[in-house]
Amino acid sequence: MAYDLDQFIADCRSTLAKDPGPAGREQVRLDLEKLLANPDFIQKHCGDDQPRGLKVLYEDPKLGFQVLAHINDKARVSPPHDHGASWAIYGQATKYTDMSEWEREDDQADPKHAKLKLKTKYRLTPGQAGIYQDGAIHSIDYPDYARFVRVTGTNLDKINRIRIDPNTGVVEMMTPQQAT
Ligand SMILES: [Fe+2]
Repeated sequence: MAYDLDQFIADCRSTLAKDPGPAGREQVRLDLEKLLANPDFIQKHCGDDQPRGLKVLYEDPKLGFQVLAHINDKARVSPPHDHGASWAIYGQATKYTDMSEWEREDDQADPKHAKLKLKTKYRLTPGQAGIYQDGAIHSIDYPDYARFVRVTGTNLDKINRIRIDPNTGVVEMMTPQQAT
């Protein structure tokens, strides 16, 4: 039987209960790639008949992690941002996402200003998942109809996060639902 959402969630629960650190998250990333290889899952949760926007597919009552489907019609470029104290895994369902990973060159003493340097840039295509550990800064750029499934360590709407203007270095707090 194909690897489905229920199986993926069960695996996330057992993996993250055993190891909530980077190695456990890497296992979740590999399992998400397995899930994205299931065309029935893509059709059911990321198909054209799905409501647009952000849908929570699962939130774990004990461990707090979330599985989210981002059903986008419109292209978007996000500024560099972190996921606060959480981590995030992005798995591509349709089209692609150009990912940039950034690092801070400043000493992080000034809460309103950061100096960023581009570390790496790559494209996630359908079936591929990328991982952004706690504290990592990334930005995303995707075309119309790019859809993805995201797994986060916790509900990001409940924690403080920042975004950074890559040109000016101005740091802003992110508000809930500012997404991705
Ligand atoms: Fe993000």
